[in-house]
Amino acid sequence: MLSDLKDNNRAWSAKKTQVDPKFFSRLENQQSPQYLWIGCADSRVPANEIVGLDPGELFVHRNVANLAPPQDANYLSVLQFAVEVMKVKHILVVGHYGCGGVAAAVDGVRRGLVDHWLHPIREVHEHHCHELDALDSDKARWDRLVELNVMRQVKNVASDVFVVDAWAKGQPITVHGWVYSLHDGLVNDLNVSVSSVEDYRKLVAF
Ligand code: CO
Repeated sequence: MLSDLKDNNRAWSAKKTQVDPKFFSRLENQQSPQYLWIGCADSRVPANEIVGLDPGELFVHRNVANLAPPQDANYLSVLQFAVEVMKVKHILVVGHYGCGGVAAAVDGVRRGLVDHWLHPIREVHEHHCHELDALDSDKARWDRLVELNVMRQVKNVASDVFVVDAWAKGQPITVHGWVYSLHDGLVNDLNVSVSSVEDYRKLVAF
C-alpha cells in the first residue's frame, strides 16, 4: 500500500510541474494564504479539495470535531501565526453533518481522553437542550448540534485576543461558520460571519 502512495506522489509532483514548471520553486520561497481553515480531522472532509484551492492557498488546522478551545496551544499557535504573520483575510470554521466526534460527545459511551476533548460540545448541548429536545428525530438533533458547535467555535475564534487585537489595529478579518455535507459535498454557510467586535456582540446567544 505504501508503495502506491509513493507512486501517487511522484505522479502528482510530475503533473504539477508539467502544468506549471515554477509551481514548487514559487511555493518553496513563500506561502501567502488568504484563508485559515479550522475543520474536523475526518478523512471525508479534505479541506483544499472541497474549496478548490491549491497548496499555498489555505492554511489548515484540523482536529476532532473542529474545536477552537481557548486553552489549546496547538490551535492558538496556528491562529496567531495565521493572523499576525500571514494576515489571513478569512477564518473558516467548518463542521460537517454526520460528525462522529459530535455524536461521541453526547452518546454516553466512555472512550477515554477524547471524552475530555469533546467536553465543549456537551456544554453546547446542555446550553441548547430545549431547542434540541424539540426536534423530532435523532438525525435532526445531531445535525443541529453540529451547527451549534460550529457557531460556538466561531464565537471562540472571534473573541480571541489575537483576532480582537488585529481588528483594533484595523486589520480586516472575517470569521465564518460553515457546515459541509458528506451527502452531496456542498457547504452550508450558517450566516454567522463576524468581521468586528460589533458583529460578535450579535452572536452572544451561543
Ligand atoms: Co467530524
